[in-house]
Amino acid sequence: MSETISVNLGTRSYDIEVGPGLIPRAAEFIKPRARGSIAIVTDEHVATVHLPVLLEGLRAEGLTAASLVVPAGEASKSFAGLEQLCEGLLDLELDRSSLVIALGGGVVGDLAGFAAGILKRGLAVVQMPTTLLAQVDSSVGGKTGINTRHGKNLIGLFHQPRLVIADISSLSTLPQRQMRAGYAEIVKYGALGDAAFFTWLEEHGPAALSGDQAALSHAVAHSCRMKAAIVARDERESGERALLNLGHTFGHALEAACGFSDQLLHGEAVAIGMVLAFRLSVRLGLAPKSDAERLCRHLTAIGLPTELSALGPQRLDGQAFIQLMSHDKKVHAGALTFVLARSIGDAFTTQSVPTAELLAVLSAD
Ligand SMILES: NC(=O)c1ccc[n+]([C@@H]2O[C@H](COP(=O)([O-])OP(=O)(O)OC[C@H]3O[C@@H](n4cnc5c(N)ncnc54)[C@H](O)[C@@H]3O)[C@@H](O)[C@H]2O)c1
Ligand SMILES: [Zn+2]
Repeated sequence: MSETISVNLGTRSYDIEVGPGLIPRAAEFIKPRARGSIAIVTDEHVATVHLPVLLEGLRAEGLTAASLVVPAGEASKSFAGLEQLCEGLLDLELDRSSLVIALGGGVVGDLAGFAAGILKRGLAVVQMPTTLLAQVDSSVGGKTGINTRHGKNLIGLFHQPRLVIADISSLSTLPQRQMRAGYAEIVKYGALGDAAFFTWLEEHGPAALSGDQAALSHAVAHSCRMKAAIVARDERESGERALLNLGHTFGHALEAACGFSDQLLHGEAVAIGMVLAFRLSVRLGLAPKSDAERLCRHLTAIGLPTELSALGPQRLDGQAFIQLMSHDKKVHAGALTFVLARSIGDAFTTQSVPTAELLAVLSAD
């Protein structure tokens, strides 16, 4: 059984299928949308564990697909990686009726989605996310792109997929640390806009992370529903979609301080970032202290970092931190935008945060 969530974007609307065992039966969903040739883009890790099953399932339904395997890791989201992938896709003589399937984590989704968006002025893409982060976040909403030496995700497009297939079972091969990092984005949905979901996570989150399929399916589907609703109201992030950046302005600075290395995964940085956002909200008299503590308790229970001290020797002083934050691409007209909260489940954006209060939060640890 799978659950279908609709992303309502007029002519660019699409469905997200969430549930266990979906990769083997992906052809069922893809066949009605496949008018021409199919190219699967994946990375070398996912190629060994999930690609054969996908190919087999497509073949059984009479669909043939070529596959292109990119190196695993963020470095593939580069000009060089994009060039190689585009040339590889062109070698397959794809045309406007072709379909690109992105099978993998956010790296594959962002890279293949971008390549599909620019090849022949736009090919259809189906996202098949295989990390928890990609299932609840990057595969939905149409943001695609690559990194440059100036920063992450600075070159890209909005290119909505035709379909998203999130197979919960594919997460069984994902390392626990990656699972926990993806889970931080699930907590984000509760923290930014759904207190009841946050309470549900406190109760069922640990089970979801230890492989309870029903709990995991609910957590992923609910996150997708929340992201779909926000994206439908604000596709291009001119307002509400910015709430999805809760914890991210702080988080990106932390990732940058660690050189975007494995020392701190994106979701781990977001976990610390969300705690900082709540502590800042408390300091500004906007949110009760008990909510910041509650967020911290849940993240800790899951095994996610919540303190700046998790950075170890890379620990930043406040000014250096602010400097890194102001490199974020969400800076508008020179002013940093913060996502703060009135309580768990009630976030909002603001540009008026006194530097002294920010520095106080960054140095209290
Ligand atoms: N487009 C968006 O809206 C959006 C949102 C959030 C993040 N992102 C981007 O997503 C990227 C991070 O995505 P990610 O965390 O999925 O990282 P990732 O794609 O690098 O995957 C993490 C690791 O897990 C491996 N992997 C993937 N699926 C697996 C599976 N089922 N079993 C075993 N191993 C598996 C990958 O090979 C990789 O080594 C970043 O580049 C970030 O900028 C994009
Ligand atoms: Zn994120």
